[in-house]
Amino acid sequence: MPVITFANSKGGSGKTTSALLLACALSEQKPTTIIDADPRHPVTTWSKMDGKPSALTVITNESERTILDEIESAAAKDPFVIIDLEGTASRLMSYAISQSDLVIIPLKEQQQDAMAALDVIQEIHRDMKATRRQIPYAVLFTQSRAAVKSRTAKHIASQFRDNPKIDTFTVEIVERDAYAAIFTIGGTVRDMNPSKVNGLENALGNIEAFRDEVIRKLRVIREDAPASEVA
Ligand SMILES: Nc1ncnc2c1ncn2[C@@H]1O[C@H](COP(=O)(O)OP(=O)(O)OP(=O)(O)O)[C@@H](O)[C@H]1O
Ligand SMILES: [Mg+2]
Repeated sequence: MPVITFANSKGGSGKTTSALLLACALSEQKPTTIIDADPRHPVTTWSKMDGKPSALTVITNESERTILDEIESAAAKDPFVIIDLEGTASRLMSYAISQSDLVIIPLKEQQQDAMAALDVIQEIHRDMKATRRQIPYAVLFTQSRAAVKSRTAKHIASQFRDNPKIDTFTVEIVERDAYAAIFTIGGTVRDMNPSKVNGLENALGNIEAFRDEVIRKLRVIREDAPASEVA
């Protein structure tokens, strides 16, 4: 327990990057499993390179028929389970959402990502109806520019941040070379050489702030859950 799914049917919105950064950061504290449910298997490919933390287990999803069993056995084993989904809406996406304690919807501050995020939110509401339980979700802005934001980016961010019905992360995952580099060199941002990576301290601080905000949200969700759901 808990199960955290990254979902946005728009490709390239930052799901895999944010999911892997979070999984590595959580595994520094507790054993963590990440289920790679993207048929292109980006996390599985990463895990075959050197440097995967020993407290992080990578499970490669077989198909939509196996996802529920994979989630169940990972949640029984590890304190944190992360699911990385592919960038299209699918039955597999609904299955993963239906089992989640928190759905994180990453989005770049672009109109298409924002529209796809709204589609995912509607899907989550349908899954809530189907399962008759609350499925908490929150929007995460990714690939943000550390410097000044464009007018479009500000406008899109405010559409979500100013909407009282939609929870958003305060932390944004900034666009950084270090975050893209883990997929080509393997390992974690923590293990990168500070003399070779500019701004490594800020990159690590950003990930830790994200991890801490996820943990705070999970705590609030747990406290708010009806007694019957806190097994
Ligand atoms: N915070 C970031 N900093 C730098 N590069 C990033 C960041 N987030 C994502 N990227 C880059 O943007 C591209 C898309 O990111 P990612 O693969 O995480 O998106 P995705 O939502 O998982 O895509 P898909 O829907 O295709 O699975 C990748 O090349 C990745 O390296
Ligand atoms: Mg991906």
